[in-house]
Amino acid sequence: MPAPLLELKEVIRRYAAVGGSGSVPVLNGVSLAVASGETLAIVGPSGSGKSTLLQIIGTLDRASSGEVLLCGKNLAELDDLQLAEVRNRQIGFVFQSHFLLPQCTVWENVMVPSLALPKTLPAAKDAETTEARATRLLKRVGLGDRINHRPGQLSGGERQRVAVVRALINKPQLLLADEPTGALDYASATALGKLLIELNREESVTLIVVTHAMELARQMSRVFELRDGNLVATA
Ligand SMILES: Nc1ncnc2c1ncn2[C@@H]1O[C@H](COP(=O)(O)OP(=O)(O)OP(=O)(O)O)[C@@H](O)[C@H]1O
Ligand SMILES: [Mg+2]
Repeated sequence: MPAPLLELKEVIRRYAAVGGSGSVPVLNGVSLAVASGETLAIVGPSGSGKSTLLQIIGTLDRASSGEVLLCGKNLAELDDLQLAEVRNRQIGFVFQSHFLLPQCTVWENVMVPSLALPKTLPAAKDAETTEARATRLLKRVGLGDRINHRPGQLSGGERQRVAVVRALINKPQLLLADEPTGALDYASATALGKLLIELNREESVTLIVVTHAMELARQMSRVFELRDGNLVATA
């Protein structure tokens, strides 16, 4: 069996208790292995630690103890600069709020993550340029005629699709989505869920979705519930 893309071993995350004495574990020994190309949903009540877990996986937060391995690399051994590089190259994020830059066009917004990549390495001859990838993906998500619009001129569903393309622009191995459909109406939410699954296959990106929407969760190949700080597989 190939090594998993992502592995969590006994991950604990504590926060200081309100009132100042001691700490409370939000994640209490989470272990998980995710193979490349998988789709996975994490559900659970508000405050159960879903965002905390996704942020630790996404290198935005560190575990209090335990290990997080991405492509076999222990994230705890990386300094902040190395973590930033992992985050930019290997991981794409989509949140409930799109966080697009309002003054920039759709095109400029999706190109932003690529600006931080060094341009020193010569690309393979047949490699798709970032510009071509941006155009192709924007067309793919149905925004070919919105490329020069600004976020304020788009619907909520369209803005989320821009956010998805921006998350994919650097060809990440892992796409993390925290309540990606949480701010959308039913039709837009259904369409975005379908799109995420299709892009998982087409772009070979592993997908982890945190959601309250069981309909979206059920479209993933595995569903876990975060309960009392641990992941429980649901039927
Ligand atoms: N920086 C922090 N400092 C202290 N406590 C925190 C911090 N971040 C989160 N928590 C606490 O950790 C718990 C889990 O929060 P988290 O945001 O991960 O929950 P969630 O499952 O994503 O909830 P929701 O569904 O409402 O988004 C909550 O009790 C929260 O108050
Ligand atoms: Mg949350």
